[in-house]
Amino acid sequence: MKRLNSQLQEDGAPLELILLIRTLLAGCKEIAFRVSQGALAGVLGSTLSENVQGETQKKLDVISNQILKDILSESGYVKAISSEEEDDVVPCNPDGNYLVSFDPLDGSSNTDINSLIGTIFSIAHAPQWMKPDDPSAFLQPGTQMVAAGYVLYGPSTMLAMTTGKGTHLYTLDKTHGGFLLTKANVHVPEQTSEFAINASNQRHWEPEMQSYIGDLLAGKDGPRGKDYNMRWVAAMVGDIHRVLCRGGIFMYPYDKRDPGKPGKLRLLYEANPMAFLMEQAGGLANTGTGRIMEVMPTEIHQRVPVLLGSKEEVEACLGYHNQA
Ligand code: F6P
Ligand code: MN
Repeated sequence: MKRLNSQLQEDGAPLELILLIRTLLAGCKEIAFRVSQGALAGVLGSTLSENVQGETQKKLDVISNQILKDILSESGYVKAISSEEEDDVVPCNPDGNYLVSFDPLDGSSNTDINSLIGTIFSIAHAPQWMKPDDPSAFLQPGTQMVAAGYVLYGPSTMLAMTTGKGTHLYTLDKTHGGFLLTKANVHVPEQTSEFAINASNQRHWEPEMQSYIGDLLAGKDGPRGKDYNMRWVAAMVGDIHRVLCRGGIFMYPYDKRDPGKPGKLRLLYEANPMAFLMEQAGGLANTGTGRIMEVMPTEIHQRVPVLLGSKEEVEACLGYHNQA
């Protein structure tokens, strides 16, 4: 079975990027180990603090963030980091050539129920002019990413990654610690009859979302003419992994509650990396008003509405938005 290194070389990734990715993944393997120890390591449950987004931090959020921060800042490859668990950018090596954004432990409320969680990351070039503590270099559209992916800590530890030459899936072989290629060039089926949304927010959605979901729920007798199934892991990594494996549409749409939060998911380290993976697998990733990867960020923790997955289903959903 092909190793990660060989696939990255075949896809034309430069040596320094390969070394950076391998460093990042060494951190993820450490997280995988901590996560698997669960209650035995005393790592479950919450801390007493909140992150900048007002979410209570889990102990594993803080541990995972520290592991990635330490390994990346000591690597020398990275000029600065932005993380869900850090208020501001973290300056690293002033001569580093890359910027890394990450969600160290996505879906961390699942830790207490031994369910799916993961690390999401994206990598971009660091501009020469940029000072390591300057957040403005992170404010580039997702089209500038050179690599993105996630590590899913599930029954097996899996990596989904792209460097812009297709999306590939790897499985961590815990007997020797390497990620082995288990599915090259993922292709997300264009049609689906499965959707993922937190329906408890229904009353807060815009009318176009209400009618789209209403029509899915109407099934065979409604305008879509077929029955749909619904799934919700409550960890974006878990839901996106399912969509990459068998198709579907995943949505965290615009929500009217707070105009300052036009969606729940964060652009830099949730929406953009997943959009890159999805597009490289033949799917679509849109906010409802445009391609996610073309959104120009205005701040590092910016939130965006997210509609992504099977091409024809995302197009169908966008059809409702265009009519509005
Ligand atoms: O990081 C935010 C997140 O945990 C995502 O992983 C997940 O898709 C979503 O929030 C779950 O939201 P809710 O709590 O509404 O189910
Ligand atoms: Mn998250």
